[in-house]
Amino acid sequence: MSETIDRAISILNSGGIIGLPTETVYGLAGAIHLPQSIEKIFTTKNRPFFDPLIVHVSSIDMARKLTSDWSPLAHALAEKFWPGPLTLVLPKSNQVSDMITAGLQSVGIRMPQHPVALDVISRLAVPLAAPSANKFGKTSPTMASHVNEEFKDDNLFVLDGGPCEVGLESTVLLIKRGLDRFEMSILRAGQITKSDIEKSLEDKNIQFQFVDAVSKAESPGHMKHHYMPKVPLVLNESGQTENEIKEKVKARLPELPDQVDGVKILKPTNLDNLKELVLSSDPTIAARELYAKLREIADSGAEVIYFNKKSNHTGEKWEAIFDRLSKAASLII
Ligand code: TXA
Ligand code: MG
Repeated sequence: MSETIDRAISILNSGGIIGLPTETVYGLAGAIHLPQSIEKIFTTKNRPFFDPLIVHVSSIDMARKLTSDWSPLAHALAEKFWPGPLTLVLPKSNQVSDMITAGLQSVGIRMPQHPVALDVISRLAVPLAAPSANKFGKTSPTMASHVNEEFKDDNLFVLDGGPCEVGLESTVLLIKRGLDRFEMSILRAGQITKSDIEKSLEDKNIQFQFVDAVSKAESPGHMKHHYMPKVPLVLNESGQTENEIKEKVKARLPELPDQVDGVKILKPTNLDNLKELVLSSDPTIAARELYAKLREIADSGAEVIYFNKKSNHTGEKWEAIFDRLSKAASLII
């Protein structure tokens, strides 16, 4: 591994980008001080320049330099949840370019928990900007082989850190100073939940409140569709049987999208060729399995995937999973 990490560092130092394992999903990473690497991230991923990137650090000291307001709240949350799947959106400092933040005055920062990611960042001694290592709009990668497959035409160097433990992208938390208290908004749900955050602040003597309303400008990455597999996913929230699902898909076939934001979704030709996505009833395991199973079923030749929402799929951790499932779905019934 140490030779491959040397190679990764030399690519990053010369303005290249790499596939980087983190505990959430694999990232497509470039050093933040080299504009050509940031541009390469956007163009390789086909990502629109209005969607900002998360910057990854290996220490709290590194994080402090990226923001003009490292507040007691940011510090408390970083100490509690880093390294780990929580991204803090804070006012940016001048170390962070406008290309990284898509012109916003804020920057998303997180310290990943994967030892390989931490090793690369600390040895490079420069933070890494990294979105999930998938083409824009598509399913996020949780194994090195997913990244290799996705960027096979781009000659991308990928560090293999094994399967991702969390499997779902980090919770994205916007922090702002209000008049007499901090205001926090969850811009993207993840496995660190609102309750986890509230609980961690119980004895901290920090005044805060959660606010829901978030303008589009504050959360530009919020698309209706995302994480889409290459065949249609049907989210069955109404307890339909497999036959009923087939009938519904047949009736709605003409209106199913065959392309969303440039992502091709194959139209089924044989509706008998459908497969259920089965996930563990434990949401921590379900999150870990979700993306790999979606890819596996789509690659198995199934023409429609369906997922049955069950009565025990409740609680904040399942909410994050359903956030992804509903954005990945072509049809919700
Ligand atoms: O777990 C993760 O967060 C993974 C790993 C690689 O760290 N990264 C990831 O990046 O999921 P990406 O680019 O696929 O998603 C980042 C999300 C987007 O929805 C983006 O709009 C939002 O974070 N974001 C980043 N910076 C922001 C900012 N300054 N203000 C609001 N939203 C921001
Ligand atoms: Mg992504």
